[in-house]
Amino acid sequence: MHDKILIIDFGSQVTQLIARRIRESGVYCEVVPFNLAEQAFAEFKPRGVVLSGGPASVIDMDTPRAPMSIFTAGIPVLGICYGQQTMVEQLGGKVEEATHREFGRADIEIVEDSPLFEGFWQKGDCDDHVWMSHGDTVSALPDGFGVIAVSKHAPYAAIADESRKFYGVQFHPEVVHTPRGTQLLNNFTHKVCGCSGDWTMATFREEAIAKIRHQVGAGTVVCGLSGGVDSSVAAVLIHEAIGEQLHCIYVDNGLMREGETEEVVSLFKDHYNIPLIAVDARETFLSKLDDVDDPEKKRKIIGGLFIDVFDHEAKQLGGADFLAQGTLYPDVIESVSFTGGPSVTIKSHHNVGGLPERMKMQLVEPLRELFKDEVRALGRELGIPEAFITRHPFPGPGLAIRVPGKFTREKVEILRKADTIYLDEIRKAGLYDEIWQAFAVLLPVRSTGVMGDSRTFDYALALRAVTSTDGMTADYYPFEHDFLGRTATRLINEVKGINRVTYDITSKPPGTIEWE
Ligand code: XMP
Repeated sequence: MHDKILIIDFGSQVTQLIARRIRESGVYCEVVPFNLAEQAFAEFKPRGVVLSGGPASVIDMDTPRAPMSIFTAGIPVLGICYGQQTMVEQLGGKVEEATHREFGRADIEIVEDSPLFEGFWQKGDCDDHVWMSHGDTVSALPDGFGVIAVSKHAPYAAIADESRKFYGVQFHPEVVHTPRGTQLLNNFTHKVCGCSGDWTMATFREEAIAKIRHQVGAGTVVCGLSGGVDSSVAAVLIHEAIGEQLHCIYVDNGLMREGETEEVVSLFKDHYNIPLIAVDARETFLSKLDDVDDPEKKRKIIGGLFIDVFDHEAKQLGGADFLAQGTLYPDVIESVSFTGGPSVTIKSHHNVGGLPERMKMQLVEPLRELFKDEVRALGRELGIPEAFITRHPFPGPGLAIRVPGKFTREKVEILRKADTIYLDEIRKAGLYDEIWQAFAVLLPVRSTGVMGDSRTFDYALALRAVTSTDGMTADYYPFEHDFLGRTATRLINEVKGINRVTYDITSKPPGTIEWE
């Protein structure tokens, strides 16, 4: 069994980053919301606990607390921001509203040496690159604690009870704005908690295979391949575990990018020799979408049809006991809500939503514990070609949500050609891997142009390219004008039906990445 760290989430926007930093150092960790922490702690048996930051104030009534059991278990605890404050309060110290709130870059001075700082900060050192975000501050320490770092507005910027191995930092070591933060977390997990750092993708692969075999037994599994990295990695891993007990189904809905169907089929059939049922359902999807205007309606039609086709194919196989899904860790971590209200649905995402209920199958989700970049690393470990692994994300409803306005097959054809040229130019310029996602959108606008000596009246195309780490927020990619000019010329010359090209410079928020 590997050494593990438990992260108790108090709702900070950056809790996931704590987990990523810790895993990068070869230590397995999981995030659990504070209200489920008591039981998780008892079951998980971690070598140490990290308490995350959060939006609440410990001064208020009824704000979240860590289970007291973590403080009596004899294991190290690191509290970050709110986590530090609740630890202090729960152990008998005091927290007050700060006279100066600190948001952003701050400087600290180290006043005591500590294993937490070993290798980079010594007594007397100053560092003006730590990132703070707090309205409250510790004002009296519990017994056994001493100050190890101070800042101008946070006299308890870092505290320690070295004998119990309890630490608290007011700043956020998990964000890039605290460059020494990764080393600090590393010191906590390796030096203070004694974790060995032996968690790698190779060990994950072996353990995941054993788990899949244990779960599935002699049963059969169906897996819907979308052409994306997640479902492909899940399928290859499951195949390695149970071989022919896995049946993969790929549905060609006529809304894929050029060459995508062929790539998926060849990856599975030729590269891996994994049996794959490729269903040509283009006509079914395209005819149902004809003339549909409303984006949500498009999504619902596609989601519903996908379930129908998939269900039909699975029945043809004589039924299956399990359904495999490429669910990732960020989808699993339950978000901690302080508003109590349900969040608004911006877009309905429904690749396989609804399938498990309808098909009454148990789920096999071997990637549930992984972040996107870890899935890519696992894909490499499994020998999936690099070009497949680094492919940009592509939405389940495919090109249908990139032809805003009335859906027609003609529009999808034009868009597919344009998309291919745009991505070709991006690859040629060596920019593909710098961009999170790039695609074209065929606008429902015709405008006047002149080509040769004739008047044209054709569609306008919008190009989109964004940088992002998780798709939750995004910035537009700052292409050189030359690149944009060259690409626009090629698009207008080579794609019949387009006579105008624009570049979308909206970030997310306020925009979303896709247009529909
Ligand atoms: P938005 O447009 O919501 O997209 O900013 C964020 C990311 O999600 C992708 N996306 C989808 N992915 N099924 C998916 O699997 C969907 O229905 C869907 N809609 C959007 C989008 O391409 C971007 O990467």
